[in-house]
Parts: sequence; C-alpha cells; structure tokens
Amino acid sequence: MKIEKIEFTCSSPSLKLCPQEEIPEFAFIGRSNVGKSSLINMLADHKGLAKVSGTPGKTRLLNHFKVESIVNKTSATWFLVDLPGYGFAKLSKEQRAKFEGLIESYLQNREDLALTFVLIDSRLEPQKIDVEFMNWLGDNEVSFIILFTKIDKLSKAQLVNNLAAYQKALSGSWAELPLIIPTSAETKAGREAILEIIEEALKEIYQSE
Ligand code: GTP
Ligand code: MG
Repeated sequence: MKIEKIEFTCSSPSLKLCPQEEIPEFAFIGRSNVGKSSLINMLADHKGLAKVSGTPGKTRLLNHFKVESIVNKTSATWFLVDLPGYGFAKLSKEQRAKFEGLIESYLQNREDLALTFVLIDSRLEPQKIDVEFMNWLGDNEVSFIILFTKIDKLSKAQLVNNLAAYQKALSGSWAELPLIIPTSAETKAGREAILEIIEEALKEIYQSE
C-alpha cells in the first residue's frame, strides 16, 4: 500500500474531543521513549511529522494524523493515532492515573478503532508493565499486533533471543500468540509489513460495508 498524503489533524486531551469523522483508525501505543513518534515518521516517510525527543513523556495527548492511501485502486482515508506513552516514571501518581485513564477510555470506546499496534523496545527483557498492558488489551477485546522497535541496535542473534523471550513471557496468558513484527525507524525494517497489515484491515472494513 502506498501512502499518498499524510497530515496532522489535531491533538486531543480527551476521547470526547477526538475527531468526529467516521473513518478507520490505527493506533500506536507503548511505553514512553519506545520509539512511537519515530516509527510513525518512518511509516509516513516524513521526518518531522510526529515530534521525536530525548525527553520521555513528551506525547501527552491523542495525536491524530489523516492518511490518504490507495486500496483496491480506490482512495482510502484513515487515521493514524499517536497515543501517549504509558508507565512514565517521572509523573506523579495522579498525573499517571489521568493519562492511563485517557488511554483506557480511548481503547475501550473509540468506535472506529480498527487495530492497535503495541510497541516494545526490542533491547529489553520482557517488562511486567508491557505484559500486563497486553493482558488488559486481551481482557478488553482490543485487537493488537506487537511491534519490536529499534532492532538496528541489536545483532541478529540478540533479536532472535529477545523474540523468543517475549514469546515465552506471553505464552502463559495467550493460547495463540500475538504477532510480533521487528521494526526500526533507522533502517525502515518492518515498514512494508505494517502497511500490508493496515491495507488488509482496510480491505476487510470496506468489504463489509
Ligand atoms: P514519547 O513520545 O516521549 O513517549 O516517546 P516515543 O515513544 O514517541 O519515542 P521517540 O520516537 O520520541 O524516540 C525516543 C528516542 O529513541 C529518540 O532518541 C529516538 O531517536 C530513538 N529511536 C526511536 N526509534 C529508533 C530506532 O528505530 N532506532 C534507534 N537507534 N533509535 C530510535
Ligand atoms: Mg512520541
């Protein structure tokens, strides 16, 4: 699938203030600093689209980007959403609860949410907070795919090792393991695979309409 055009629509502090347009939506979420904004820029092929920073916790709003692409020879419009990072240690308990509430209400109630991509730093051992978050998604019937980020920082052997560790960590709670796609904003690894998944989802949505 080719992206024809992508532009920033708005940043929303609550679900209620999100765009009203009823078009399919694909959300990107993960812990702060995991590389969400970088990955979105990589998908969009547009470096300055989503703000990238060395300071964790920069994205505290739901950021909508409108994408025009060609699916089945017709133009398909959808939203790509950059969600705030969860598990940001430097926030106070209250601030943290507020952001987590925002994320949860969005994931549970956003009607046109087609698919969620959960970003995981490929360099780390399975983290409790990520495994718990994915279990929460499962319990709430939010369908998701895992994106392993920053794989350019790992050797092939390390990547294989860390993928296996994650599959093992998830196997306790999942009968059928979620798909994990290795990605890098630096090398563009995973770009085609992600766009293909979005394209397939869009085809299904348009077919059933
Ligand atoms: P918040 O918005 O603060 O939650 O962070 P984020 O998840 O959007 O992460 P962001 O894209 O801002 O990236 C965080 C840091 O990781 C930046 O210093 C990026 O340059 C770096 N980074 C992101 N993706 C990659 C990658 O694929 N490879 C490498 N080597 N570095 C990356
Ligand atoms: Mg960000």
